[in-house]
Amino acid sequence: MAGNRTFTMIKPGAVRNGHIGAILAKINEAGFRIVAMKYTKLSAEKAGEFYAVHKERPFYGELVEFMSSGPIVAAILEKDNAVEDFRELIGATNPAEAKPGTIRALYATSIGENAVHGSDSDENAAIEGSFHFAGTEIF
Ligand code: CMP
Repeated sequence: MAGNRTFTMIKPGAVRNGHIGAILAKINEAGFRIVAMKYTKLSAEKAGEFYAVHKERPFYGELVEFMSSGPIVAAILEKDNAVEDFRELIGATNPAEAKPGTIRALYATSIGENAVHGSDSDENAAIEGSFHFAGTEIF
């Protein structure tokens, strides 16, 4: 059965470019409820830990550097079929391949600086949510 929570980050590039409000509006309009949210910054160490699954990939160093380059908005979102529906809302990892109207098509500048992260499975949504939030910060 599909779970009802996913985890997202508005990445440093989209924050720097002033897109927090527009991205949150898209998330709300798509019917997601924000159950946890914070404005924070990842250290290089924490960014490396979050993306450890990509450690062997050629873009890992660049990814860690970018994700620790400025503040992010981290959030847990709730909706039926949350992981799949959110991935539909944000579009393909590479914004050049993202459908028109998706968050990445609108606000990403490149595959590396692709505006938002979205969990790829219910299991990872739970792991990533608890990486950023204590139980007392989830409502
Ligand atoms: P995200 O969904 O946050 O998960 C892993 C990230 O790695 C991905 O978004 C991209 O930002 C980044 N990424 C994936 N492929 C590449 C690539 N070929 N070059 C640079 N960054 C990449």
